[in-house]
Amino acid sequence: MIKINIQFLGHSCFLIESEGNKVIIDPFLNNNPIATAKAEDIVVDAIMITHGHADHIGDAISIAKRNNCHIIAEDKLALHLSQQGVEAHRLGIGGVFDFPWGKVKLVHAQHGTAIEGEQENVYGTPTGFVVTMNNKTFYHAGDTGLFGDMKVLGEFNNIDVALLPIGDNFTMGINDSVIAAEWLKASKNIPMHYNTFDIIKQDSNEWLEKMAANNLNGQVLKVGEILSI
Ligand code: NI
Ligand code: MN
Repeated sequence: MIKINIQFLGHSCFLIESEGNKVIIDPFLNNNPIATAKAEDIVVDAIMITHGHADHIGDAISIAKRNNCHIIAEDKLALHLSQQGVEAHRLGIGGVFDFPWGKVKLVHAQHGTAIEGEQENVYGTPTGFVVTMNNKTFYHAGDTGLFGDMKVLGEFNNIDVALLPIGDNFTMGINDSVIAAEWLKASKNIPMHYNTFDIIKQDSNEWLEKMAANNLNGQVLKVGEILSI
């Protein structure tokens, strides 16, 4: 059975590898106080970005240029990035595209998104991704609050791993992420977007306990740790 390896690189950044294909999501590395990987060392076939905030775009442009790979993002954000000399694949909410390494569906997130431009800000739609590689499906929720359509995502996708923000303040916190996990019905849930900054400090043990109390499978990945499924 072919495995996919999901490596947590801190904040909302994950490096996904399967059969030698590598993609990175929300590569916020060099200015990320908890990240240990450096953007200069990242080797990937593609980059996915959930929304335009700096803690998600991160080092995407330098990684894309050095690897000569494209960035996958929501239409408006992708267009903005493509104007900075990188190749971008523009997806709309609900859109699916089959890349050589896997299938990506863009789904909505309940959040904001603005890239501070020199003249004006670029606004778009914040998103999450449902990605299928070698028959394994994972969901990266992006930055989001809890929203009822997570039930729909859970109903129509067979999610193996859900990557969920738990940091609170900017996104859902521990309690809402437990509800999200219940609705998404993923086999396994991994917390993200916490402890990077003081304002999103959370006790991951408390999250694990609440997940377990609801018969949900949670696993905390240390920065750099890999989950193989
Ligand atoms: Ni954000
Ligand atoms: Mn964020």
